[in-house]
Amino acid sequence: MKRLANKRILLGITGSIAAYKAGEIIRRLRDANADVRVVMTQGATEFVTPLTFQALSGNPVHQHLLDNDAEAAMGHIELARWADVILVAPASADFISRLCLGRANDLLGALCLASHVPLALAPAMNQQMWKDPATQTNVQTLRSRGVLLFGPDSGEQACGEVGEGRLMQPHALIDALADVFATGSLTGQTVLITAGPTREAIDPVRYLSNHSSGKMGYALATAAMEAGAEVILISGPVDKSLLVPHSVKTIHVTTAEQMLEQTQALAHKADILIAAAAVADYRPVLANSEKIKKSTESMMLQLQRNPDILATVKRQSPWLFSVGFAAETENLELHARQKLKDKGVEMIVANWVGHAATETQGTFGSDDNALKLFWDGGELELGVSSKARLARELVVLIASQYDNAIQSGRLNKEQREVENVVQLRSHSHDKKN
Ligand SMILES: Cc1cc2nc3c(=O)[nH]c(=O)nc-3n(C[C@H](O)[C@H](O)[C@H](O)COP(=O)(O)O)c2cc1C
Repeated sequence: MKRLANKRILLGITGSIAAYKAGEIIRRLRDANADVRVVMTQGATEFVTPLTFQALSGNPVHQHLLDNDAEAAMGHIELARWADVILVAPASADFISRLCLGRANDLLGALCLASHVPLALAPAMNQQMWKDPATQTNVQTLRSRGVLLFGPDSGEQACGEVGEGRLMQPHALIDALADVFATGSLTGQTVLITAGPTREAIDPVRYLSNHSSGKMGYALATAAMEAGAEVILISGPVDKSLLVPHSVKTIHVTTAEQMLEQTQALAHKADILIAAAAVADYRPVLANSEKIKKSTESMMLQLQRNPDILATVKRQSPWLFSVGFAAETENLELHARQKLKDKGVEMIVANWVGHAATETQGTFGSDDNALKLFWDGGELELGVSSKARLARELVVLIASQYDNAIQSGRLNKEQREVENVVQLRSHSHDKKN
């Protein structure tokens, strides 16, 4: 999977002679399987028509802030929420100065203010405009606020002059944009993630399961990989369209027992366990070997409890920084805090599901969600956002809580080494006998 696959890129285009190069940027983003939405300033539309970028991006181009129809369709706040990153390429000198002042007098300016995702600018202008102290001061101010600057390049300019101010090459821009997601906060750690539902066979054609899509777990696998971790994903049956980067090792299982077995087998390799799977709590006592015929008016299905994967693995491998999920239809906080205690884990990620989830919060199968995180002595709410963005925010928090736990000695990784040696010894002892 390419590094920008499934990322939501909001591309702002401003009034520069280099605006036509945005076409190449959009094409490359789409080749990388990114989802692109374009916002043009009035100035940009003087250089290239919105129709060009609409055709290239496959989405309508957004232009106006004070427009009833546009607001009713995908309004500026909704667009700001939609994006995983905002790239303004080309960024004109005037737009840079407006951004510096915090102006919201057009759609792109308002979006940049309303969004808290990474913002990257690729300036393009005459070399003298770039060198001007006003532009340089603006750029410094924006940098100090965390705005990313891609380029500009040096070379021959459209106006015939030579110097710094050319738009960065599209292929280099795409690379720089992909790097935005590579945080490195989990470099050197191995993260084990469970995802999706489990299926518990009733007979060869029927099973018990739930509505989990696996999207959150898969988004977490991608986010953890981007954060520099080695990721192992243990996945229940999910839609084939759900993808993770090639470097994520994926193990496919069907039942809760298989998921437990794989998680136990891999726990000794891992530093962090994120149990995002919606494991079936019960399974039929007997899975019929032949298809059950409908002979009676009613039938009884006897069920037995499945193992609690998270609690079991945490008990056996206490060095694992363990994160559980709680999907609740009532008393979210109460249940989440109870799970934190009962399972002895470091963090619980709770969310509303079923009738309790509002339309905007999303739930099973949707691309959006809202989460509430609980840990010993703290909590944090992550508002409605894409599962991909929530996963990145969650990974940042997990990384910092993990560091705290190691620093404070609450997690003892040496215990894992001891355990591994014991296991190895008993293994070779078994072989000899
Ligand atoms: C032919 C032409 C080319 C221009 N090229 C640039 C440019 O490359 N960079 C820039 O910052 N401004 C350039 N300008 C000036 C901007 O178009 C102008 O400042 C405009 O107000 C920017 O609007 P915007 O930032 O809202 O898109 C150019 C103007 C003209 C007439």
